[in-house]
Amino acid sequence: MKRIIVLISGSGSNLQAIIENINLGLIQAEIVEVISNDQNAYGLIRAKNANIDTFVLDHKSFNSRDEYDDALEKRIQIKNPDLIVMAGFMRILTPLIPTKYKGKIINIHPSLLPLYPGLNTHEKVINNSDKEHGISIHFVSPVLDGGPLIAQGVIDTNDNLIELLIKRIHSMEHLLYPLVIQYICEEKIYLEHSNDKVAFKDIELTDGILKIKYNV
Ligand code: GRF
Repeated sequence: MKRIIVLISGSGSNLQAIIENINLGLIQAEIVEVISNDQNAYGLIRAKNANIDTFVLDHKSFNSRDEYDDALEKRIQIKNPDLIVMAGFMRILTPLIPTKYKGKIINIHPSLLPLYPGLNTHEKVINNSDKEHGISIHFVSPVLDGGPLIAQGVIDTNDNLIELLIKRIHSMEHLLYPLVIQYICEEKIYLEHSNDKVAFKDIELTDGILKIKYNV
């Protein structure tokens, strides 16, 4: 059984989707801890409802990003995870954790990377009248939203208003993130350390990644 740590800052709807996929037996793993930088994150309640250990590491109690990440790394170390899942963790990491846990830490980002790293991706899609929008799941590297791509989910924007677009993006996240986590736990997806390339076993690829067009 793989050991997963989930890092959150907010609502935790992706966390919820992961919990449900574990409960259904689709992901062979145990969430050994949910860590939040915000004590008010609703995801902490979701974790408690599922009897999952939680830990709050409030960034406001630290003087620098380095000190915070040092403490976060120490906490992660205690739990000795096979995989760290960033699910709406709204902190930019220093290189410490991505370097130490290379190939063992993943993130989900609401854009078709390399388009629109950082914040406000939906606004950018709308302002640029993009015909497609989507999500990207990647191994985390020291470069913000820049690590090796694993998967993308794509939707037609259909000139939707932002609220609907965000809703559709979330629906897609709740399908694709658990699937990728399942494949990583089954060792069908992993990072080749020799060349930093993502390896896929028995998975149909498009443009070299797991790419799915959704009708959500
Ligand atoms: C998601 O949209 C994810 O792409 C981004 O943060 C959001 C987290 O949502 N990184 P939730 O907390 O899982 O509901």
